[in-house]
Amino acid sequence: MNRLTEFMLPPAKSTTAESTDALFHFINVTSIILLLGITVAIIYFSWKYRRRSDDDVTPVIAHNSKLEITWSVIPLILVMIVFGWGFTGYINLITPPDDAYEIRVVGKSWLWEFHYETGHVSVNELHVPVNRPVKLIMSSDDVLHSFYIPDYRVKMDVLPNRYTSLWFEATEISESVIYCTEYCGTAHSNMLATAHVHSQEDFETWLESAGSADDDMDPAELGEQLVTRNACNTCHSSDGTRLIGPTFQGLWMAERTMQDGEVVVADENYIRESILEPNARINEGYDPVMPSYAGSLNDRQIDAIIEYIKTLQ
Ligand code: CUA
Repeated sequence: MNRLTEFMLPPAKSTTAESTDALFHFINVTSIILLLGITVAIIYFSWKYRRRSDDDVTPVIAHNSKLEITWSVIPLILVMIVFGWGFTGYINLITPPDDAYEIRVVGKSWLWEFHYETGHVSVNELHVPVNRPVKLIMSSDDVLHSFYIPDYRVKMDVLPNRYTSLWFEATEISESVIYCTEYCGTAHSNMLATAHVHSQEDFETWLESAGSADDDMDPAELGEQLVTRNACNTCHSSDGTRLIGPTFQGLWMAERTMQDGEVVVADENYIRESILEPNARINEGYDPVMPSYAGSLNDRQIDAIIEYIKTLQ
């Protein structure tokens, strides 16, 4: 059974995953038993009561109370079990424990931002402590997204202008994939993130040191890291390849034509504006789909990204 379970479902790494799986297996196994039982009965009866000769007349049977009660009560019991089990599981899933650690999640086309109580923001990297309930309070900056961690068996829509939340308690120090499961545009399938589960101690160390390691790094090098960490490279290549947005290669000080015909030189101010107010000016031939990084990148980080773009000549 265990090997079959592993073949059908991803590893169960949260406190609620096992009970969710148990219900899934119950429904699955019951359905298989019913399918086999009914199929065998149909084949057997059609053989047993087959017409043997031309004057073999089918008797008229109006009803059979015993039989009808049996085939009503058995399914009723089954669906009541599924309802009771599913409902308690659902109530548990929508009720986070009071001591849950809260993290703000913002979905943007096409990345996930995680805001911690210390003010630190990470992009596409969710860091959580093990064996502690975590509550995510989520919203979207643009269109509908959906936050999904298969290993934890949790999924919730992420909407603009409204908060939704979900909670989980990770039981294993490991990494799990986070997906967006609501089709949200061109790079929907690249809207991936990773959940990193730490020991309580390591989590606190990570929270304290997050961001400060950047302080003594060479700006261009830091910029390169930030471009990956903030998922800029989902839409902007650094080798001239045309993706959803213009490439960074050869961008520095290049003349670019905007949609309204204005010609702009890609200097510090233009790049800064593009990061903070991406829809202020749109390059000819591209769509206005970039989310703003205002609030998630500070001045030093923006400078570093500009320094990195300068190196891509
Ligand atoms: Cu966000 Cu699909």
